[in-house]
Amino acid sequence: MKGLVLAGGRGTRLRPLTYTMAKQLVPVANRPIIHYVMDQIAAVGIREVGVVIAPETGDQIQAALAENPWGLSFTFIVQDEPKGLAHAVMVARDYLGDEPFLMYLGDNLIGQSIESLVEEFRNSRPEALILLKPVEDPRMFGVAAVDGKGNVLRLVEKPKDPPSNLALVGIYLFSPAIHEAIGRIKPSFRGELEITDAIQELLDAGKRVRSHVLEGWWLDTGKKDDLLEANRVVLDELINRELSGEVDGESRIVGRVKVEVGARIERSTVRGPVVIGAGSVVRDAFIGPYTSVGRNCHIEGTALEHSVVLDGARLVNIERLEDSIIGRNAVVAGGKQNSKALRLMIGDDAEVNI
Ligand code: DAU
Repeated sequence: MKGLVLAGGRGTRLRPLTYTMAKQLVPVANRPIIHYVMDQIAAVGIREVGVVIAPETGDQIQAALAENPWGLSFTFIVQDEPKGLAHAVMVARDYLGDEPFLMYLGDNLIGQSIESLVEEFRNSRPEALILLKPVEDPRMFGVAAVDGKGNVLRLVEKPKDPPSNLALVGIYLFSPAIHEAIGRIKPSFRGELEITDAIQELLDAGKRVRSHVLEGWWLDTGKKDDLLEANRVVLDELINRELSGEVDGESRIVGRVKVEVGARIERSTVRGPVVIGAGSVVRDAFIGPYTSVGRNCHIEGTALEHSVVLDGARLVNIERLEDSIIGRNAVVAGGKQNSKALRLMIGDDAEVNI
């Protein structure tokens, strides 16, 4: 069985970060989301993975996978325009051949192994097997109606009037029958070839489509709060105390804190779960729970909590910063004497709450 990871698309929801960074590379607990995707794929024994990339961000995706600790064999497939998930499968048609495949959306993060899903697919050979999760507002997703035994009855993409609260998680298993089904669908109201419509097409042709309901958490890291939540959950579950950097005698490190090689903590308190990336300096600062600080950041005279700080950012003399995402090489500096005025140089689509 091959893997197909969709890492193209535009990523408008995480602007401004995604002006310069593919959304699949946004870090959660200091690792790009797509690395968690590859962890999952490697764990079920798949070795060959096609990665669909966009012309604009394809280089970044390739660079992020260059190290390849999973030993996977990657084939990068360029999709000229983001014309939909089913279109991405069409573009990968030659690569996939007539093998069954696991399709994984490169920006989806789940807190559970996909082993049982893959095992059922291998054993009972339905034409498609999808993963579902109850959500509060299903209108933002593909939605499935199922019978009591996990058989899928009907699917709709972003329905105004959802047939259930079961959203499609971006992880699918397909037999090669999906290719013919994709050949029969038309673009949706948003102008995309929807994989949801192709699966409905399988149902219309009388084929068997099965589903599993995901028990653990699922984070579709679409927006700022989703990303902070993903960071919180992953730090909570995966970070262990590991002090590989330098911590001076005047600092206090409480709980599960990972300080990467070459990072320095001086006269500061860090209360986990927290990760501080390689080469970063934290000086006269407080770093509170659920914070990820990227590589080569500088945090001084600042109290920071429940936030994600990307590589190379500088935070100096900020009394209190929380629930924030700070982009790469961004600078936030406070504490000018005798001045209540704010001085900002803010990029497109940035958000500042004072
Ligand atoms: O996240 C789950 C949802 O993903 C499902 O519930 C929906 O049924 C499914 O259509 C999809 O909806 P989104 O609107 O969230 O998909 P998005 O455009 O964000 O694309 C998902 C991933 O696929 C993302 O990593 C980008 C990539 N992609 C997307 C398109 C449209 C491509 O590689 N090529 C594309 O043409």
